[in-house]
Amino acid sequence: MQRALVFRFQCTAILFLFSAPPLARPLPQGDPLYLNFALNATYFPTEDYYDYIVVGGGTAGCPLAATLSQTFRVLVLERGGVPYGNQNLMNQEGFLTALTEVDTYDSPAQTFTSEDGVLNARGRVLGGSSAINAGFYSRADPEFYESSGVDWDLSLVNQSYDWVEKGVVFRPELRNWQSAVRDALLEAGIDPYHGFSLEHLVGTKIGGSTFDSSGKRHSAADLLNYAKPENIKVATYASVERVLLASSSSNVMSRQSAIGIVFRDEMGRYHHAMVKEKGEVILCAGAIGSPQLLLLSGIGPRPYLSSWGIPVVYHHPNVGQFVYDNPRNGISILPPIPLEYSLIQVAGITEMGAYLEAASNVIPFTTPSRSVFVRPPSSPLLLTVATIMEKIVGPISIGSLRLASTDVRVNPIIRFNYFSNPIDLERCVNGTRKIGDILRSRSMDDFKFTEWSGGRNFRFVGPSLPADQSNYEMMADFCRRTVSTIWHYHGGCVVGRVVDQNYHVTGIDALRVVDGSTFTVSPGTNPQATVMMLGRYVGMRITKERKRLKW
Ligand SMILES: Cc1cc2nc3c(=O)[nH]c(=O)nc-3n(C[C@H](O)[C@H](O)[C@H](O)COP(=O)(O)OP(=O)(O)OC[C@H]3O[C@@H](n4cnc5c(N)ncnc54)[C@H](O)[C@@H]3O)c2cc1C
Ligand SMILES: *[C@@H]1O[C@H](CO)[C@@H](O)[C@H](O)[C@H]1NC(C)=O
Ligand SMILES: *[C@@H]1O[C@H](CO)[C@@H](O)[C@H](O)[C@H]1NC(C)=O
Ligand SMILES: *[C@@H]1O[C@H](CO)[C@@H](O)[C@H](O)[C@H]1NC(C)=O
Repeated sequence: MQRALVFRFQCTAILFLFSAPPLARPLPQGDPLYLNFALNATYFPTEDYYDYIVVGGGTAGCPLAATLSQTFRVLVLERGGVPYGNQNLMNQEGFLTALTEVDTYDSPAQTFTSEDGVLNARGRVLGGSSAINAGFYSRADPEFYESSGVDWDLSLVNQSYDWVEKGVVFRPELRNWQSAVRDALLEAGIDPYHGFSLEHLVGTKIGGSTFDSSGKRHSAADLLNYAKPENIKVATYASVERVLLASSSSNVMSRQSAIGIVFRDEMGRYHHAMVKEKGEVILCAGAIGSPQLLLLSGIGPRPYLSSWGIPVVYHHPNVGQFVYDNPRNGISILPPIPLEYSLIQVAGITEMGAYLEAASNVIPFTTPSRSVFVRPPSSPLLLTVATIMEKIVGPISIGSLRLASTDVRVNPIIRFNYFSNPIDLERCVNGTRKIGDILRSRSMDDFKFTEWSGGRNFRFVGPSLPADQSNYEMMADFCRRTVSTIWHYHGGCVVGRVVDQNYHVTGIDALRVVDGSTFTVSPGTNPQATVMMLGRYVGMRITKERKRLKW
C-alpha cells in the first residue's frame, strides 16, 4: 500500500522533471561507460614513464588529469573501479543503499568511525566521493578566497567553475518537500530569496546538482571525457602504496624529489610508475588518503614516523594535523503524506555561523526487535523520512589523523574533536534554533499529524529539539548528543603548513597535493564545487607555467 503510493507519487514527479533545463551540455565523447582509457591495473606494465602521475581519481584528481592531458602524458591511479554500471552510484535513489552497503575491501563507499564515535564515509571509486555524495553543488563563499592562504587568480577561478559546470551540473526541479523547506526558510527569516543560483549568497536559494533531470549522477569521473584520450591512462584497482623519493644530485643543498610511485594491483603485484624529467607526482587522494600517503612515504613528524619504523625522508610536523569536520545536527520527521525522494536542493545561508539544508529519503524500516508482540515483517516497509539539518561554517575545532597500520588499505584513525571550540558550539546552537523556527513556520503545517486530542504535532524519528529552545545549555547538549557528519571533512595537508600556495609540498621537489586535504575551512555550503574547480585551476596553472618556461 505504502509502497504503491510512493511509487505513484514518484511517477508523477518524474513527469514534472522533464521540464528542467540542464546547464550541462551533452559530453563530447558520448557515454562515459566506454571510457576507453580506463583499465584494470593488472594490465599495466611493471614500469612506465609519465609527465604527471595523479594519485587518486577523485573529485579533484579527474578534472586535474583531464586538463593536464591536453598537453602532457598523464597517469591516474585509482584504488577503486569505475562507477558506470553500478545502479546505486549512478542513480539518486541509490544514495543511502551505496552508503550503507556492507563495506568489503572494494565497495565504493569505505566506511569509518572517527574516535568521536561518528560514522563517516569516503569514496573508493573513479570520481571519488563525488560518485557517492548527495550531489548538491554550490560555489565557495567570497571569504574562502581570502582566508585560504592562496593568491587566487579569480578570473581563472571563474573559468574553472564554468568548465566544471558545463560538464556535470544541472538545475534541479523542486517537488513537495524541497519547496516546503524553501518557503519555511524564508518564513524563518533567512532572506532574501535568490531563486536558482550557483553563487554563495546570504539568504535562501536553489543550488545546482550533479544529478540530471532523470536522477542520473554525473560525478567528477565524467570530467575525464574532456581528457585527450591518447595522452591519458587511468589504472583502476590500483592501490598506491607510497611515493618514491630521491635526492636531486644537481642541488648543492641535497633536496628530496618525487621520482615516481609504487602501486599494487588486485593480484598483489607491484608496479612502478616514474616521472619523466620536469614531471611531478600529484596526490589527489582526499583528506584522508593524501596525508596517509605522505606519512607512509616518510614525509611527516619525525618522532611519529620513527615510532612506526618508517624511514624519515623529510620532517614535516603538520602532515595529518589540522584535520576538520563540520558537525551536522538536525531532526527527522515521518510525514503524514507520501513524499518524493530528494537529496539536498535548497540551502539557507545565514550570517550566524550555520547553513540549513534538507532531504527526504525513502528508507527501509524494520520493526524494532525489542517489540516482542509484533512479528517483524519479512520484507521491510518503505517509509519516507524528511530531514532538516544544519551544518556549521568552518569549523574551528581542530582534529588530527594517525596511522592504524602501514598497510595503505587500512583506514587511518581520525579524531575531529567536534565542538572542542566554544564558537563551534554557539554556531550549532544558532543553527538548531533556526531549525526550531523552520518547524514553527506555516509551510511545515502539512507535515504534522492530527492527534486524538485534535492538536497537530510532528512525528519525530530520533531526537526532537529541546522544548525550551531559548535555553543555551539544553541546545548545546542537543548539539553534542546528536552530532553527526555531513561528510565535508577536510585538511591534513593544509596550505601554509604542508603545501605552499602553489600546492607544492614544502621542502620536497616535484610533489604536490591538490584536493580537500589542503583546506582549513569547508568552502561554501558544500565543498564539491570548489574541489572540482581546484583540480581544473591547478591543471591550468601548471600548463601555463610550463608553456611559459617552454617545456
Ligand atoms: C556521503 C557523502 C555525501 C556528500 N554530499 C555532498 C554534497 O551533496 N555536496 C558537496 O558539495 N559535497 C558533498 N560531499 C563532500 C564531497 O563529496 C567531498 O568533500 C569531495 O568529494 C572530496 O574530494 P577529494 O578530491 O578531496 O577526495 P575524493 O573525492 O574522496 O578523492 C580521493 C580519491 O583518491 C582515491 N585514493 C585514496 N587513497 C588512494 C591510494 N592509496 N591509491 C589510489 N587511490 C587512492 C580514492 O579512492 C578516491 O577516489 C559528500 C561526501 C560524502 C562522503
Ligand atoms: C582485474 O584483472 C584481474 C586479472 O585479470 C582479475 O582477476 C580481476 O577480477 C580484475 N578486476 C576487475 C574488477 O575487473
Ligand atoms: C567571478 O564571478 C563572480 C560571480 O559571478 C563575480 O562576482 C566576480 O566578479 C568574478 N570575478 C572575476 C575576476 O571575473
Ligand atoms: C549566533 O547568533 C547571534 C544572533 O544572530 C549572533 O549575534 C552570533 O554572532 C552568532 N554566533 C556565532 C558564533 O556566529
